[in-house]
Formats: sequence, C-alpha cells, structure tokens
Amino acid sequence: MAESAELILDGKSISLPVIEGTEHEKAFDIGKLRDQTGYVTYDPGYKNTGATKSAITFLDGEEGILRYRGYPIEQLAEKASFLEVAYLLINGSLPTQTEFDAFRYEITQHSLVHEDIRKILDGFPSSAHPMGILASIVCSLTAFYPKSISPELNKDELNLNIVRLIAKLPTIAAWSYKNSVGHPYVYPRNDLDYTANFLYMMFSFPTEKYEVNPVVVSALNKLLILHADHEQNCSTSTVRLVGSANASLYGSVSAGINALWGPLHGGANQEVIEMLEAIEQDGGDTSKFINKAKDKNDSFRLMGFGHRVYKNFDPRAKIIKVAADEVLQALGMQDSPLLKIAQELEQAALTDQYFVERKLYPNVDFYSGIIYKALGIPTEMFTVMFAVGRLPGWIAQWKELRENKEPIGRPRQIYVGELERDYTAIGERA
Ligand code: MLT
Repeated sequence: MAESAELILDGKSISLPVIEGTEHEKAFDIGKLRDQTGYVTYDPGYKNTGATKSAITFLDGEEGILRYRGYPIEQLAEKASFLEVAYLLINGSLPTQTEFDAFRYEITQHSLVHEDIRKILDGFPSSAHPMGILASIVCSLTAFYPKSISPELNKDELNLNIVRLIAKLPTIAAWSYKNSVGHPYVYPRNDLDYTANFLYMMFSFPTEKYEVNPVVVSALNKLLILHADHEQNCSTSTVRLVGSANASLYGSVSAGINALWGPLHGGANQEVIEMLEAIEQDGGDTSKFINKAKDKNDSFRLMGFGHRVYKNFDPRAKIIKVAADEVLQALGMQDSPLLKIAQELEQAALTDQYFVERKLYPNVDFYSGIIYKALGIPTEMFTVMFAVGRLPGWIAQWKELRENKEPIGRPRQIYVGELERDYTAIGERA
C-alpha cells in the first residue's frame, strides 16, 4: 500500500500522500490541502518546503554529500573541466569526446558580445558594482536576441540561447570589471579554454603579452565546478520562480544574479575578505575577534562559518581548503598576513568548543574568498566569479522546470494586517 500520512483536523481525517525521491527523501504532498481544509502550510523562507522534484543535484546536509546528476562533487572537482560539468548539469549525462568537442566549439562561436553592449557598458558610472552591471547586461540580451523571450522555443532555439549565455557570461563579467577600473575591454580568445580565456580577458592589457598561469587556471576550474549548482538555494529558486512565469532564460538568470548579489547569499565570500582585512587593520589579534563573535551583546559576526543546509561540514569546503593551500604555496603566498589571520580563525573554529558545538566550521565562502584574493581577483568581483560558476546550474534548473511544464510559482500567505476599515477624507484624519 502506498505510504500516506493522516492529518486530523476538527476530528476529520485527511490523508496526505507521501512522495519519495530516488535517494529516499520523503515529503507530504499538501497540494490539495487548502481545497480540502481551507488551511495552508506556514514555512517562512520555505526551509522545509520541497518546491519541486528535481533530477539535477542531490545534497545531504547531515552527511555532507553533494552530487551533480549522481556524480560525487569530489570526483568532478578532481577530474572534470568546468565545461564538462556544465554539459552534465544541463544535459543530464557526461559528454562523449565528440559531444564535448561540439559543445566547446559552439561556445567559442558565441563568446563575442554585440558591439552595442560596449555602449551600454560605457553608460555605467565607474563606481557601478560589477554584479549590477552583470545582471543588467544579461537581461539586456533579450533586446539583442528578441526571439529568446518566446515561451515556444524549439529544442535548437533553446539550445542556442543556452550556448550564447554560457559563452558570453565570462566576456560580460570581465568587461564589467574592466569598466569599473577604466581599462580597455579585452576580446575573448577561442584558442584558450573557458577558464583561461576568462582570466585572459580579466587580466591582460593590449600593451603586454599575458601568460596564463596553469596553477591559477586549475584552481579556478575547481572553484567554478564547486559552485556550479546547489539545488534549491536562494538564487536558483529565484531563477525557477521567474522562469515559472514563462519569463525568458536571460530574464530569469538576470533575476538569479540579483539574488546572488545579496550579502546573505553570494556576497558572503566578499564579506569574508573584508572581515579579514578589518582584523588585519585592527592589529591582527584574532583572539579578540573570536571573543567578539562569542559575545552575544556584540554585533560582530564571523563571516564564512557554518551553513544553512550542511549541518556537519560543507563538502565543497574540504576540497577547496586543499586547493587553497596548493595555490598559495604555488604562488609563494603562504606567509601573507591575511592568510595567517584566516588560518587562526579556521583553527579556532575547528577546535574551540563554542564553534564546534554550534557547528560553525569554515564553509566554501571562507576559502573561496582567500583563493580569489590570492589569484588577484578584485574583491568586488568575488560574487561575479560565483555567478560565472553558478550559471550552468541556473540554466539546468530553468530548463528542467520548462521541460516538466511546472506551474507558475504562487505561494500563499497568512495575512496579519488591518481588518476592513472605511476610507476617511484627508482633513478628517487624526
Ligand atoms: C550556495 O551554494 O548556493 C550556497 O551555499 C547557499 C545555499 O545553498 O543555500
């Protein structure tokens, strides 16, 4: 007999069907609850709400497991390239060599952006945050490719939009940085791989020959893979919700970029470095800040510790910690004062009873900030890097939603405002 739960309300029994995923996660299906009882469920922040059935990413926060399409994150981070992972997330299986070559070739054919995008970029003040620029330019792609807004795209048209976005995002991201520092835009090079090309567009100048450092490319490749998807996080849920209204891929991803920009989501890695710099400027005494973090009357918070869904450790942090050590060693930066502060905080969090009891271990944002800093990526670009990494996940989730013809997202609420009252003329108001 199919499993179900029984809800007793005013002596009446309501049966709630149980649905089970392939990894045996279970949910009560409350889809008909309001029709049956007049009640809705209340779950602010949707922390305990399964908003969709998804076949993309499996995450077990208690066990510290993360898999894309069934493949453990540890294997992908060690063995795959970012583009392979993008293909996997979007298409459901790892590409054969022929499929991969075709995918890579298509992407190189779309890495340039329309020259008019330069004019839009020129319109932004140099003080503009690159995340704002990124979100705006991605949304403006609907203007350059008007067909993309149609909800009736065939498979080839949809694929073209996907390829365009993967191809152009690094160009737009690097140019948003060049714009913010007033440097000339650097055009993509198709002979470089995806990650190396991004670094080239970020850091090269027309006046000098730029050598791409393989250690940096490899660390960045890993970071992008680790960020590529994370099931129904805030920005991904945003992409799905916007996409559920049949909004275009570019419009939906632009909304996701804005969600990611929030300091509680993708902005956290920037806040980690800002915190480390503040500690350094204060004299570098980490024990003082550890005590401040423990003091409940002090507003200071340790950034980059603990995680909403990982209750023991963030599997991405384990991988990235090793990569951080390697990259700092390779770049001869193991003695940097900022790193020393980071290591002392990390040590305290892993050994101090206060942090251990509260499971406040360093998360992926803690180490990614350190690596980005070591790679010479400017602080305000950290969240942009996260967006470049998260793009395949957003695309895969948007595509899945469309293919499954999911209904428009429309949560309910519990109204707690004024009861009905009559309008009074302005002169009669107290
Ligand atoms: C993410 O990768 O999106 C973040 O860790 C946040 C989350 O999953 O809630």
